[in-house]
Amino acid sequence: MSKTKFNLFLMLLLVFLSACDKKGASSVDAATPSVATNEKMIDFVTTQDGKPLVIDAALFNTPAAKEFMTTGKNSYVGNEEAIAKGKKIFQMYSCTQCHGPEAKGQVGPGLTGPDFRYPKDATNKGMFETVWHGTNGGMGAKGIGLMDPTDPKNGITPDELLKVISWVRSLSKITGNE
Ligand code: HEC
Repeated sequence: MSKTKFNLFLMLLLVFLSACDKKGASSVDAATPSVATNEKMIDFVTTQDGKPLVIDAALFNTPAAKEFMTTGKNSYVGNEEAIAKGKKIFQMYSCTQCHGPEAKGQVGPGLTGPDFRYPKDATNKGMFETVWHGTNGGMGAKGIGLMDPTDPKNGITPDELLKVISWVRSLSKITGNE
């Protein structure tokens, strides 16, 4: 057995043993599916410097937001209702003022790609991070420099932002979920 294979075997053995341990502790708990493992947040990073971006998990409070939190996929892409709402939210948070009514660019850049200032914005996870925490070159967190991204009561919510992104994607060939 190669070293990597052996390590893998050891890992699996550990997982197996810890699983048995839990089962032994309480048969009731073992019967209920584990929520904790399903709800593990993906690693978000800031667009400014790639450092870990901590977002309160409680803010992901809709099925689509929860799915995004654990997979980075935006299930609103292609959903007509979400797209229509996203367009309104884009206006509500004044994204329009800098990016134009059709997100083709004004003071700020166009958002439809395929070339982005931040190449990661071709993915929905990347675009989410860029809007959530801002950029170095002229856009503050959540689109407005004055907002504190750590204050959950301030500004756009994850669910709203996913709808905005679904609208932006509807204007381009990119889905961001590839
Ligand atoms: C005050 C003007 C302003 C507002 C309001 C604003 N932005 Fe921006 N935005 C900018 C500028 C300027 C940039 C370019 C930043 C840079 O180059 O670092 C940018 C960049 C971006 C990018 C990255 C584009 C790329 O090519 O990588 C996205 C996505 C984005 N904005 C989305 C939004 C959304 C969504 C909102 C509303 C919630 C918003 N912006 C509100 C000015 C603004």
